[in-house]
Amino acid sequence: MDHVRSAATDDARELTDLARHGPTRPSCSDPALVLGATLLSVARHVALVRTGDDNVPISLSLVTDQRVHAAGNASVKCVCDVKDGRLNKRRGHYSVYRHNMIDLHCHILPGLDDGVRTLTEARAIARREAGEGVTVIVATPHVRDDYPTMAEQMESAVAALRNDFAIEGIQVDVVPGAEVDVSFLWQIPPKELTRFTLAGTGHYLLVEFPYWGWPAALDLAISLLRGRGICPVLAHPERNPEVQDQPDRLTAAVESGALVQVTAASLDGRLGPAPRLAVEKLLSLGLVHALATDAHGPHVRDAGLVSAIAAIGDPSLARWLTTGVPGAIVSGDSIPARP
Ligand SMILES: [Fe+2]
Repeated sequence: MDHVRSAATDDARELTDLARHGPTRPSCSDPALVLGATLLSVARHVALVRTGDDNVPISLSLVTDQRVHAAGNASVKCVCDVKDGRLNKRRGHYSVYRHNMIDLHCHILPGLDDGVRTLTEARAIARREAGEGVTVIVATPHVRDDYPTMAEQMESAVAALRNDFAIEGIQVDVVPGAEVDVSFLWQIPPKELTRFTLAGTGHYLLVEFPYWGWPAALDLAISLLRGRGICPVLAHPERNPEVQDQPDRLTAAVESGALVQVTAASLDGRLGPAPRLAVEKLLSLGLVHALATDAHGPHVRDAGLVSAIAAIGDPSLARWLTTGVPGAIVSGDSIPARP
């Protein structure tokens, strides 16, 4: 460690901390996505990012050359290459996209549903999301007729993935959850349903909105869940033609206590013009509360949030949709006011 300490000058404390703890885990609650740091081609780096009066170490696994909308620019104070135990600082000016995103909807548990098929695909999604600034992924396997996932299966798969990511040094936390079909709710015992809530807090449940037809049981489902102290989070209603034709039909559901999650691929156009237009209308109506990937893997839909964030064009709103609301949900807290 001595060679590391001798390399530190005016940033001695921070750099020593970095050397001691290594670059595998950002020490702040608000890591950053660094743009344009093209000189950094080696695998293991740490950057010190100045945010206000603090110097925040972040992993340069977060470095990307993607051009995304910059929400809350900060300056990179220096870049530290800690590969092979050597530490060298490189000062420079970089744009920083400050975000600490939480992906509330991701089919990242191998083999449980139509999501990722292998551990390799799960690792790829996690690395992609970490590279975009996601720090928590909620594992949300389908719970419905064709994939009647049990809570015990989900929980053991989450534990296995968390263990694997720790060994692999993948800097994303995976927490429990599920995507429960709105018509399947009645078949799940209350205690089992609680285990399926997002991050297991018992307060928020991801409810799959059908791709076709208006769900006749929606009002009853919201009422049932609210009666048990659970807030339903409606997954991707913008993909339903009924909603696309009449987005304000969701107003009653939201007024009844439901939240709405839309899919990043709808917003950035990957799913075509109809879902994109529906999301834009829902956003203008104030009927969207969270943006998530609903990633399944390379065979269905890959991860990716930043292009959708860029499409929003409102940094404060993007932050609320990807950090504020999802953060409250995984903490079991109240939803913060929309900016
Ligand atoms: Fe899904």
